[in-house]
Amino acid sequence: MEVSLRIFRFDPSEDESPRFETYSIPWEEGSTVLSALRYIYENLDRALAYRDYECYRGLCNSCRVVVDGRELKGCRTLIEPGREYVIEPLRGHRLIRDLVVDFAVREGEREEPGREHREGTSAEKCGSGSSELA
Ligand code: FES
Repeated sequence: MEVSLRIFRFDPSEDESPRFETYSIPWEEGSTVLSALRYIYENLDRALAYRDYECYRGLCNSCRVVVDGRELKGCRTLIEPGREYVIEPLRGHRLIRDLVVDFAVREGEREEPGREHREGTSAEKCGSGSSELA
């Protein structure tokens, strides 16, 4: 059984407009949105940007994305075989790339002067105050 994910893709520094890319991945019992994103990154598309942190307990909130129009924690959101899901970044925050937003900067706000901001080429690991790009 497979699952299909339509994922929002956009790099504001390079792309003129957003697009969606669709990936079909194998489904396993216990698969979540976050594990599906990790599978895509590790097996299909190393350019996909998403937040990847392994609390996997719903505590850090860094895996939040919009799934079929609802803001959910990716690590706590089970996916079902045979379905297609639309995955988008959180709304209301400045988009960094693809599914990664800057939680500290609301859309339309300016970044604080001197605030360090890191962008990356792949998954973003975050938690315990540090942010590291894989
Ligand atoms: S990885 Fe989902 S809340 Fe921490």
